[in-house]
Amino acid sequence: MKSIAIIYGSSTEHTKNAAEKMAELLADYSPTLVDIYEGDETPFLTHDVLILGVSTWGVQDLQDDWNDFYPKFEKLDLSEKTIAIFGLGDASIYPSSYVDAIGILYEIVVQKGATVIGEVSPEGYDFEYSRALKDGKFVGLPLDDDYEPELTEERIVNWLETLKPYFE
Ligand SMILES: Cc1cc2nc3c(=O)[nH]c(=O)nc-3n(C[C@H](O)[C@H](O)[C@H](O)COP(=O)(O)O)c2cc1C
Repeated sequence: MKSIAIIYGSSTEHTKNAAEKMAELLADYSPTLVDIYEGDETPFLTHDVLILGVSTWGVQDLQDDWNDFYPKFEKLDLSEKTIAIFGLGDASIYPSSYVDAIGILYEIVVQKGATVIGEVSPEGYDFEYSRALKDGKFVGLPLDDDYEPELTEERIVNWLETLKPYFE
């Protein structure tokens, strides 16, 4: 079984809550839950599968704690890592930059050699543009606790099921 770390950055706890829910649902795999605010790169080195959580705060920007971690992040070799990304956003107020930070994080980890898993169909999402949409698919799991919080748990459960084959 692969070792899993769930690493998140969260400003108002939505991403944190989703990360905690994922840790709970993946209890059989004993994942390590990490707040990127701590600034520790060790989990990136010691785990095989990294589930990265990031919220979107404006166009072009990573969430503050991910942004602070960036100098360490850019030095990491991720070529042996399997990475899945989830992100919190708000499609109601920000439909033209919906969960953009998933796309930003994706571009960084791909450039650093990671294998990215966990793409999601945009069907059922109501938005105009997202940097997380590549070749017609979201490159991670969008969650929206502002606009459609009632869908969050179901989306997490379904997404984790698609990831489980990569945990063996
Ligand atoms: C000032 C501000 C800017 C935001 N910009 C975006 C955005 O561009 N795209 C988006 O999808 N959500 C945007 N959001 C919504 C947040 O991503 C959303 O509230 C998210 O759940 C916050 O997660 P966190 O509490 O884990 O940081 C913005 C929210 C605020 C307050």
